[in-house]
Amino acid sequence: MTPKHFLDIASQTPEALRAILDEGHRVKAEGRIRTDRLRGKTLAMLFEKPSTRTRFSFDLAMRELGGDTIVASGSEMQLGRGESLADTATVLSRYVSAVMIRMLDHGGLTTFAEAAQVPVINGLTRKSHPCQIIADLITIEERVGALEKQTLAWVGDGNNVLATLLEAAPKLGFRMRIATPPEFAMRPMLIDTARRLGAEIEVGTEPQGAVRGADVVITDSWASMGDEDEEERRHVFRPYQVNEELMKVAGPSAIFMHCLPAHRGEEVTNAVMDGPQSAVFDEAENRVHAQKAILAYVFDRLG
Ligand code: CP
Ligand code: NVA
Repeated sequence: MTPKHFLDIASQTPEALRAILDEGHRVKAEGRIRTDRLRGKTLAMLFEKPSTRTRFSFDLAMRELGGDTIVASGSEMQLGRGESLADTATVLSRYVSAVMIRMLDHGGLTTFAEAAQVPVINGLTRKSHPCQIIADLITIEERVGALEKQTLAWVGDGNNVLATLLEAAPKLGFRMRIATPPEFAMRPMLIDTARRLGAEIEVGTEPQGAVRGADVVITDSWASMGDEDEEERRHVFRPYQVNEELMKVAGPSAIFMHCLPAHRGEEVTNAVMDGPQSAVFDEAENRVHAQKAILAYVFDRLG
């Protein structure tokens, strides 16, 4: 039987996403208690790139659900010496109940998942970050309300986090306004797909136009993992900083979100990060609740 992977938002049904979000709210309301819902299950967590939130939140989620975790980095495994992803997936499937992987190459993730006989969870690739978006949507529902009424303004890089929001928009009915520098725009194919599936998406290059009247203002680092060497980014993205002036255009009821880690003074100022409109630390906390819901989904234990 094909295991139930969680590799992207695009391949989930709106009903499955709704059930995951509901489970996230439910486990948050339940509190940070220990249960035995995943007793006997072990999650392997493989990291090719650094992580704070994804690593700690999955580890805590498994422990609080009564399961166990094993963490390793690609370089300390035989993967680093050329063992294939498929063989690694086959071996790990004999050891653990599910695998969460962070690797930049999305194709590598799908190769791993195709060979795995246990569920595989995408802990971030260059293409997408679906676990982050589950936490973000939970945060929006609790801070501003029903998703289908919201307009999300994305300001900054056309990156993996934005791509994942675009996968979610048509399934959950929120609108998006995007402002990126032309040289770092989102791939037109992803915008077209979201629109074709029914999402209302406005695309431009001007931050003030994007955030005017928005319910949520979102940004991310100007250079994602793997892009840090592109020095010109610092210059190109400067007009895309989320600061108090830009938040004033959005209005006082808008919230500010960022998946973190933030580069204070670059994509966001201290005043916005630490101000009353900031939801960034709720968003980080919600990673724990979101991971519990995603684990419940892959193990067929929702609700
Ligand atoms: N937001 C996020 O995925 O954070 P980490 O890189 O710390 O896991
Ligand atoms: N877009 C960022 C997200 C980090 C959590 C990156 O890929 O580095």
